[in-house]
Amino acid sequence: METFNEIKKQDNSFIANTYSRFDVAFVSGKNARFFDESGNDYIDFGSGIGTNSLGIANDAWAAAVSAQASRMQHCSNLYYNPVTSSLAEKLCKASGMKKVFFGNSGAEANECAIKTARKYSFDKYGADAERNVIITLRNSFHGRTVTTLSATGQDVFHNFFFPFTEGFVFCAPDIDEIKKTVENNGHACAVMLETIQGEGGVLPLKDEFLRELSAFVSSQDILLIVDEIQTGIARTGRLLSYMHSGIEPDIVTLAKGLGGGLPIGACLFNEKTEKTLSFGDHGSTFGGNPVSCAGANVVIDTVTSEGFYDEVERKGEYLKKALTEKFGDEILQIRGRGLMLGIDFRSKTAKEIAAQGLKNGVVVLTAKQSVRLLPPLTITYEEIDEGVKRLASIF
Ligand SMILES: Cc1ncc(COP(=O)(O)O)c(C=O)c1O
Repeated sequence: METFNEIKKQDNSFIANTYSRFDVAFVSGKNARFFDESGNDYIDFGSGIGTNSLGIANDAWAAAVSAQASRMQHCSNLYYNPVTSSLAEKLCKASGMKKVFFGNSGAEANECAIKTARKYSFDKYGADAERNVIITLRNSFHGRTVTTLSATGQDVFHNFFFPFTEGFVFCAPDIDEIKKTVENNGHACAVMLETIQGEGGVLPLKDEFLRELSAFVSSQDILLIVDEIQTGIARTGRLLSYMHSGIEPDIVTLAKGLGGGLPIGACLFNEKTEKTLSFGDHGSTFGGNPVSCAGANVVIDTVTSEGFYDEVERKGEYLKKALTEKFGDEILQIRGRGLMLGIDFRSKTAKEIAAQGLKNGVVVLTAKQSVRLLPPLTITYEEIDEGVKRLASIF
């Protein structure tokens, strides 16, 4: 095994400088525990930024993925295969949506949603109506392609890469502001949002706002796109986080936790949008590849099994309580739902906690000024206790 310094040198020499990495290299793991190259263990409160939904090297997931890799890794979207179609059926049945397009990432899923919203409007209202504007929320995050950066409601992402894609307008999560914007702009075809702004600092929207917004946009034939890339796949204690509020979006995007750690993105359509894209409108060479889908099938089977959502909610409450008891006044605020939590600490910054956490054997994420926790959905109560204990030891 190479030493840490060898790995770091190789990485820094040959990988583009887009990531600022912490001084640790992971080589293996089990459930909510990573191991570094020297065998040290780390409790994982980050799950690869919400991707390892069933933990690291989950037995059923690893068996399904390896079996599929030995059988057939890909065959292209020119042909049928049973693994991808089976995942599509499971996703549609569990979500109540009608059809799905598979890509490879969150940004791609959102690109598909944006294209679909504009085509829906073009088909129905014609080119002259120019009904192509998509309203997104300030402080949102929707991806890193030029168009999803354009959709992202944070100025910091709107630099260098000009010209950006036109046709995005940003609003606060305020129903009156959105109504006024729709009226003044006159060209809106969709509203796109995250129910909990993840990268924006783990900021949940109010269920009441979501219900009012959903009723309003539906009355205007403006599509509602919910970006469930971070919040979806049981992360908040429901398959999809908007289900807490009872709204019914027209388009839903997924990625991160869906593949359990393999790349896959999905864009789900309801009865209004299922026929919008037709032959040649969209595609992706690797989209829905059978190996990722084999993993995703295990993820969906697991999260939709009896009692799973309740257990995610119970573990989320347990984690919140453990943190509150251990840290007391040191915590200014805890926000979030299920196993998606944002925490503001009094005496240390999120960056300091993430760096010092690693030195004490616990992985946490940051989101803006907050510590963000997205543990594997399968984390055990013992792993939660151990992670909180290690986090407390840095104070
Ligand atoms: C809400 C949301 N949308 C989109 C994305 C982009 O996903 P990806 O990095 O897979 O392209 C992310 C990633 O953090 C996200 O959190």
